[in-house]
Amino acid sequence: MTLTTPPAAGTTELPATATAPGTTGRSATPRHFLMCPPTYFDVVYAINPWMDLSVPVDRDRAVAQWETLKAAYESHGHRVDVIDPEPGLPDMVYAANGGTVVGGKALTARFRFPERQPEGAAYEAWFALAGAEHGLTSLGQASDDNEGEGDLLFAGDVLLAGTGFRTTRAAHEEAGRLLGVPVLTLELVDPRFYHLDTALAVLDTAGGAPTVAYYPDAFSPASQEALAERYPDAILATEADAAVLGLNAVSDGLHVFLTDRATGMHAQLREHGYVPVGIDLSELLKGGGSVKCCTLELRPAAGPTAVGHTTKEDRA
Ligand code: ARG
Repeated sequence: MTLTTPPAAGTTELPATATAPGTTGRSATPRHFLMCPPTYFDVVYAINPWMDLSVPVDRDRAVAQWETLKAAYESHGHRVDVIDPEPGLPDMVYAANGGTVVGGKALTARFRFPERQPEGAAYEAWFALAGAEHGLTSLGQASDDNEGEGDLLFAGDVLLAGTGFRTTRAAHEEAGRLLGVPVLTLELVDPRFYHLDTALAVLDTAGGAPTVAYYPDAFSPASQEALAERYPDAILATEADAAVLGLNAVSDGLHVFLTDRATGMHAQLREHGYVPVGIDLSELLKGGGSVKCCTLELRPAAGPTAVGHTTKEDRA
């Protein structure tokens, strides 16, 4: 299904160029996202280098920017569900960290830092109750440090799994086993890119190269090699684009939602037949997050028959 809806107000979508969709065969598929409004967003502790306690947060602006992102998804045909924000959890807006949902199975995160740990219960409750209405099966909470889609990016045939700052290798193994997908562990080495989704974006899970974009220097030499081998056609981001979290992007296979600041990445995406949709999320950047951090994808079971087929072994 190709979606050709106009851009929402407050977003920038530049006209298609010579490598327009259609000539490259890219097409969008409707997605289902979970988001959490930044009602209580603030920077009151610093657990990544982006968080500067001396820089004030404009919460009304954060809410307006977040609403623009949500409206952009909806105007492109995607469904957005919302989890209730909780007072005292200023980072709950970064819904990507709440869990990992693949094939209708939802594995709740276990946060590394005590400041965020109560978010685990909130997301687990959502997966168990609201998630069930959407045909999701809750697998409960991960048993080791696991920051959900911040570090675990499903790329169609493999779970790309970041480690080094937050999610552990043991958590990768557990996620792969419970979600039933092979795992490729990638080691992050630059504290600015502390979650995998700050250094790598999955663009196309239908197999159309390039499947991913990433910033090589965020990874250890061995992981750079593994990425180059697996994705020889990947888009390589510049330092300038990575440094504005231009890789913290959400793609529907055609449209790529990302910060409006990553202008070089916008151009690279267009050259490869994608349509960048620029969003201003400058307030959320103060917490160390951008578009992808605010978005958890709820991937349904492959077909109606697969729903609810989680066995006891899956949970073990
Ligand atoms: N302040 C949050 C933290 O450090 C930001 C999380 C960003 N989320 C993401 N998926 N990268 O945990």
